[in-house]
Amino acid sequence: MSNSRPIPAFEKFIRDLRAAWAELPDMEARMKKGRKLLEELVKDPAMREAAKSWPSTEGRKNLLFYEDPECGFAINGVVRAPGRKGSIHDHAHAWTAYGVLDGTESLERFRRVDDRSKEGYAELELESVTLGNAGKVDLVPPFDIHAEQGGPTRSVAIILRSERVAGKVLQGSYDREKNTYRQIDGPTNIPFEVTG
Ligand SMILES: [Fe+2]
Repeated sequence: MSNSRPIPAFEKFIRDLRAAWAELPDMEARMKKGRKLLEELVKDPAMREAAKSWPSTEGRKNLLFYEDPECGFAINGVVRAPGRKGSIHDHAHAWTAYGVLDGTESLERFRRVDDRSKEGYAELELESVTLGNAGKVDLVPPFDIHAEQGGPTRSVAIILRSERVAGKVLQGSYDREKNTYRQIDGPTNIPFEVTG
């Protein structure tokens, strides 16, 4: 629409992230700050309103809202269909803060219990399941194994990544039924402008 404008909370989020990247010495500290900033962003009424018209990302897609040319962090969106079954994966060496903006999702975390000696083999145990309501943000460290499951309604999440993974490096994909592990490309990034 011709009258769409940038959303102030989103612009502030980017400014505050850039300040955190400049100020803080390491990625863990930056992403812990990023998690707090994302907690504010996913409570913003203008963001929630805008998210109502974001397109579905079914078919292993992510909306790409922003990628910082200097700091390298990336901000993605995912829009899940009701009851979406998420696959088990990691995000390689990137840190990820995952914030639910609308609907509910559950985040499953897994522990790897095999000795990693067998190529293509991985045995996992479910470690925890956290229900994410709108406003909830999870921080996922590098190589942590997890799955995001959709709730009973459409759900929308905003993801802050320490860097874009898709199109740069492969990430891990796990099959718990077959106990297999392989490396795959990340979701396709679709550039999308956040406006209100
Ligand atoms: Fe993930």
